[in-house]
Amino acid sequence: MKLAVLRERRDAEKRVAASPETVKKLMALGFEVIIEAGAGDGASIPDKSYEEAGASIAKDLKAAVKDADVIFSVQGLEAKDAKHTKKGAAQLAVLNPFVERDRIDAYADAGLMAFAMEFVPRITRAQSMDVLSSQSNLAGYKAVLDGAAEFGRAFPMMMTAAGTVPPAKVMVMGAGVAGLQAIATAKRLGAIVSATDVRPAAKEQVESLGGKFVMVEDEETAAAETAGGYAKEMSDEYKAKQATLIAETLAKQDMAITTALIPGRPAPKLITEEMVKSMKPGSVIVDLAVEMGGNCELSKPGEVVEAHGVKIVGHRNVPSRLAADASALYARNLVHFITPMVKDGALAFDFEDEVIKESVVTKDGAVVNDRLKGEK
Ligand code: NAI
Repeated sequence: MKLAVLRERRDAEKRVAASPETVKKLMALGFEVIIEAGAGDGASIPDKSYEEAGASIAKDLKAAVKDADVIFSVQGLEAKDAKHTKKGAAQLAVLNPFVERDRIDAYADAGLMAFAMEFVPRITRAQSMDVLSSQSNLAGYKAVLDGAAEFGRAFPMMMTAAGTVPPAKVMVMGAGVAGLQAIATAKRLGAIVSATDVRPAAKEQVESLGGKFVMVEDEETAAAETAGGYAKEMSDEYKAKQATLIAETLAKQDMAITTALIPGRPAPKLITEEMVKSMKPGSVIVDLAVEMGGNCELSKPGEVVEAHGVKIVGHRNVPSRLAADASALYARNLVHFITPMVKDGALAFDFEDEVIKESVVTKDGAVVNDRLKGEK
C-alpha cells in the first residue's frame, strides 16, 4: 500500500497533512509513505525529517500520486490534477464540497474515492478524526491573539504606581469549538468575557469557562440545535431581537470575536455597520467567519480594515497561521480515520460504517454522498 502526502497549492496554506510522527504510524500500519518535495516547508518540517522517519520524497505531484492507493492533503487535489491519480485511489482532505462542486465532479470522473473530512459525523467514536474541532480550536485561540495584536490596550487589569489599567471587555459570538477556545484564551489573558449563541446548550459551557452568557431565549431557541449539535438559520423575528441585544452589549465592549456559522449556509450577519459605529474608537472585531461571508458587514477576507475607528480583522485560513500545531493535529486526525480501514495490511472500506458513509463523496466514478446528490 502506497500513501502520498501532497504539497499544498493554495494561497496562504502552510499546513501539511503528515508529520514525521504520523509517517511512522502510517508505516506501522503497512503503508509506504511518499512525501511530495517541500510539503512540510510551511509547517517547519523539512523533507529530511520525513526521510528520517522513513518516508521517501517525490519530486512533484505526478510522481507522488502515480501509484498511490491513498492520498493525504489538507485542501485536496485541484480538479486539473485528479487525472494523474490511480483509479480507485482514496483521497482524504477538506474538500469544501458545497462550494467547490466542480472539483468533486472531477474526482468522480477520475475514479477517485474522495473523502471530505469535514463530513465526518461528530459522534463520540469519531472525535479523534474531527478535523473541524482540531482546527477550530486553534483558530479560536489565534483569533484572540490576532485581536490583541491590533488592540492598542492591554487585556488584564494592571495596578501600577502610575495608576490602574482597566481590563479589556471581550465578547465572543458563537460559542462552538472556536468560540469556547476564544473565551478560554481571552480569560487567560485577563479580559472580562461575555459570549452569545443561539443554542441554549452553550450557556453551561460558556459559564464553566468563566464567561457571562447573553442570549435571546425564546420558544425558537429550544429548537435552534440540530440533532448533530449545529445551529439552524433563525427567523427574521429572532434575528431582530438578537440584533437589539447585540447592539446593546457590543457598545460596551473593546473587542468582539465572531465565530458563528451555519453548516451549508452563509454565515449569519451579526454585526451591522451601525453596531460598528456604536463601538468605542480603538475597538477590534476579529471575524473568524469571514470566508463564509462574515459575521460582520464590514469585514473583508484576507484584510485588516479600519471603519469608524474600529479595526476589523478578517484573516483567511486562521488555522494555517499556526501551521505547525494545526498540521500535527490534522495529521493525527487522518491517521485515526485511516487506521480502522486497514485490515491485515490491506485497505478495506466498510461503506455501511456511519463515519465512512457520511464522509465519502465520490466512488466508482460517481458522486455518492446524500448531502451532495441533487445539489447541482
Ligand atoms: P460551527 O462552527 O458550525 O458554529 C459555531 C457556533 O456558532 C455554534 O456554536 C453555533 O451554534 C453558533 N451560531 C450559529 N448561528 C448563530 C447566530 N445566529 N448567533 C449566534 N451564534 C450562532 O459549530 P462548531 O464549533 O463546529 O460546533 C457545532 C456543535 O458540534 C457544537 O454543539 C459542539 O459542541 C458540537 N461538537 C461535538 C463534537 C463531538 O461530540 N464529537 C465535537 C465537536 C463539536
